[in-house]
Amino acid sequence: MSDSILLGLSGSLRKNATNRKLLREAARLFAPGTYIEADLKLPLYDGDLEDAEGIPEVVQTLADQIAQAHAVIISTPEYNKGPSGVLKNALDWVSRTDGKPWMDKPLAVMSSAAGRAGGERAQMILRSYMVPFQPRILPGPEIHLSDSANEFEADGRLANDRYERNLQNLMQKLRAEAGI
Ligand SMILES: Cc1cc2nc3c(=O)[nH]c(=O)nc-3n(C[C@H](O)[C@H](O)[C@H](O)COP(=O)(O)O)c2cc1C
Repeated sequence: MSDSILLGLSGSLRKNATNRKLLREAARLFAPGTYIEADLKLPLYDGDLEDAEGIPEVVQTLADQIAQAHAVIISTPEYNKGPSGVLKNALDWVSRTDGKPWMDKPLAVMSSAAGRAGGERAQMILRSYMVPFQPRILPGPEIHLSDSANEFEADGRLANDRYERNLQNLMQKLRAEAGI
């Protein structure tokens, strides 16, 4: 299906985030289809804000993008052995929207981090964060990209064939899970 939609959520907001680069490489290997990168620059979850103003438009947009995507990929950095607050905040906000957008959604997760373990602990915690939302999360192959600053070429391509092969395998499984 060439009109399939793949949505990417990067747990790192910065423009040159290696997690963003990893997602874009995943999207390249997932192709054909449309790749959309979600905007996770959301207000901090605050029950008073929700009571006063309801679900912010940026949050509803994110929830709608998740609902409409054929498959979703999430890449998290590791901050002090856990996923980023940006990502947790986004998951918390989306859980406040109607319609259970994650339910049965084909989902692949990955991590990119400076440390030797490539964010393995952060990714395990991210997997446990997703349990209540009941997506169809792929068990593997697991992608823990270590020494992240040195693993991408200037054009954004993965420098190491081993990561590329595993990522290709993961994206093939994601397409199969999504039935596309
Ligand atoms: C607050 C903070 C905590 C960090 N803690 C870890 C860590 O526990 N493990 C690790 O491998 N890297 C850690 N790092 C380094 C990140 O892995 C590195 O900045 C990574 O490239 C971030 O992903 P990005 O390139 O997508 O922004 C930390 C960085 C920050 C800013």
